[in-house]
Amino acid sequence: MWKLFRRLTTNVFRPIVSWYLKQDRTFTYKHLTLVVKKGVFHPGFFFSTKFLIEVIGKRELNSKTALELGAGSGLISFYMAGKGAQVTATDINTIAIEGLHLNNSKLNTNITIIHSDLFAQIPSQLFDYIIINPPYYPKNPTSQEEQAWFCGADYEYFYKLFEQLGAYVQRNTVIYMSLSEDCNVKQIAEIAAKKDYSFNLLEKKRIMGELNFIYQIVSK
Ligand SMILES: C[S@@+](CC[C@H](N)C(=O)[O-])C[C@H]1O[C@@H](n2cnc3c(N)ncnc32)[C@H](O)[C@@H]1O
Repeated sequence: MWKLFRRLTTNVFRPIVSWYLKQDRTFTYKHLTLVVKKGVFHPGFFFSTKFLIEVIGKRELNSKTALELGAGSGLISFYMAGKGAQVTATDINTIAIEGLHLNNSKLNTNITIIHSDLFAQIPSQLFDYIIINPPYYPKNPTSQEEQAWFCGADYEYFYKLFEQLGAYVQRNTVIYMSLSEDCNVKQIAEIAAKKDYSFNLLEKKRIMGELNFIYQIVSK
C-alpha cells in the first residue's frame, strides 16, 4: 500500500519539484530563511534534513563543536549555530559553498565553511558532533548537483568516509547519519563495519510514505 502511495506521490511530485528548482529559491524553516541555490539539495522537499534537525534538537549544542559533512544549503549547520554550536560546514559542490557564504553573511552567523571532498581539506581536529545526510544511490555522479544523490557505482563515498572519519572523532563524538528504506542500509553498514564502526538505529519515521532512519554511528 505504501509503495503504491509513494509511486503516485513521486510521479506527481517529481516534475513539479524539478521545475521549481530551476532557479535559486528562498526557504524558511524554524525562523531561518536561507537562499537555496539552483543545483543544491533543497531541504524543504526531501525530508531527511528536517528529520535530522528534529533529532539534533534534542541534544545540548551550546559551545559544542559540530561538523556538517556535505552541508548543501546549510540548514542543519545554521540551526546548530543558532543553538550555540561552533559549526564547520563543508561540501564538495562549489555552488553549495557559494550559497553557504551567502547565507552566513545574510544570517550574520560565523560558521566555518570549507570546500572539501569528504575530509580532504578539513584541518585536523576532534568534533563533538558530526552530522551526515549522505548521497546513497549506487551510481557515479555526472555533475555537481548529482553528488547530492549518487555515492559512486561501488559505494566509493562510504569507503572513503569510513576510511577518513577516525582522525576526527574522540570517544564521545556523536555521529548521526540519515538513511532511508530507498538505500541499501545493510551494504553501507557492512562497509562501516570493515573500519570497525557499527550503526545503531536511533529513530525511524515514515514521511510521505517513505521510511526514514537516523543512525548513530559508533566505533566498536
Ligand atoms: C543529500 S545532500 C544533504 C545536504 C544537507 N546536509 C542537508 O541535509 O540538507 C548530500 C550533500 O553531500 C554533498 N557531498 C556529496 N559527496 C560529497 C563529498 N565527497 N564530500 C563532501 N560533500 C559531499 C553533496 O554535494 C550534498 O550537498
